[in-house]
Amino acid sequence: MNNPFLPEKMQILDIIPETPIDHTYVLAREKPVRPGQFLQLSVPGAGEAPISVSDFDDGRLFVTIRKVGRLTEAIFDLAPGDFLFARGPYGNGFDYSDYFGTNLKVIAGGTGLAPVKKVIKNFLGSDRVAGLEVLLGFKTPADILYRDEVRAWVEAGVATLTVDQSDSGWTGNTGLITGYLKNLDLREIENCRFIVVGPPVMIKFVTLELLLLQVPEDNIWVSFERKMSCGIGKCGHCKIDETYVCLEGPVFRLPKARRLLD
Ligand SMILES: Cc1cc2nc3c(=O)[nH]c(=O)nc-3n(C[C@H](O)[C@H](O)[C@H](O)COP(=O)(O)OP(=O)(O)OC[C@H]3O[C@@H](n4cnc5c(N)ncnc54)[C@H](O)[C@@H]3O)c2cc1C
Ligand code: FES
Repeated sequence: MNNPFLPEKMQILDIIPETPIDHTYVLAREKPVRPGQFLQLSVPGAGEAPISVSDFDDGRLFVTIRKVGRLTEAIFDLAPGDFLFARGPYGNGFDYSDYFGTNLKVIAGGTGLAPVKKVIKNFLGSDRVAGLEVLLGFKTPADILYRDEVRAWVEAGVATLTVDQSDSGWTGNTGLITGYLKNLDLREIENCRFIVVGPPVMIKFVTLELLLLQVPEDNIWVSFERKMSCGIGKCGHCKIDETYVCLEGPVFRLPKARRLLD
């Protein structure tokens, strides 16, 4: 029987520096994956952690990693040609069919953009949704991820970008992401669907504002970053009441996410 804890070797094809502490790793990989799923990435001797898939195409898989601790520091020491180890993909991810025919609004804060980047790319210019709007917030201009793609989305009129604090030379929007919800086209609110991903405090305040705007809870999806260990429903690390976040999540509709948070 296959051992589910045995990771596969994945070669690093390229490393794209996004910011001094966020790098995108392009990995060689054939296995199918869904946007919003995660891998359990590891480096022998340095540990293992869940990391979201940020993009994929034929034979390549992209992950964006923030250097915060032991494992991610070890990953930052690797170079193209080196190998990472991975189990997965795990979790439910986003189901594109939930958004077909709707006005989709993707609201992402900071590194929360990583797990929804592929969703945005998939629906950009697509007639499978009635419309797509993206609202992005970062702490400062230096923290902006995927700069070229974000610039293209803004120039195409699909995305609004804001930073909490600006330095000299920044001519774009400033202020918290919640201040820009009013920029979204909410006229046919019953046909709008919302994906909200980012730090817990951002998810909390954005979803509260959406509820005040009369958005039905069922039309809001969030992705839940909870400490995980096995990723396959065995260890109980991610368990809240009867829910294994690693199996049923990390993507949840808001009514379920709120029950898990309460
Ligand atoms: C579903 C899911 C998806 C994720 N996707 C991504 C992703 O796409 N990209 C990404 O970069 N991360 C992602 N994460 C988060 C990532 O798994 C964690 O940041 C992971 O802990 C990093 O491992 P590490 O060993 O480098 O850091 P750790 O050593 O585990 O450190 C993690 C945090 O704990 C703090 N810490 C460490 N040691 C101590 C200490 N002794 N006292 C106090 N604080 C301490 C660190 O400062 C850091 O903030 C995701 C998490 C989940 C659950
Ligand atoms: S991470 Fe082990 S049960 Fe979910």
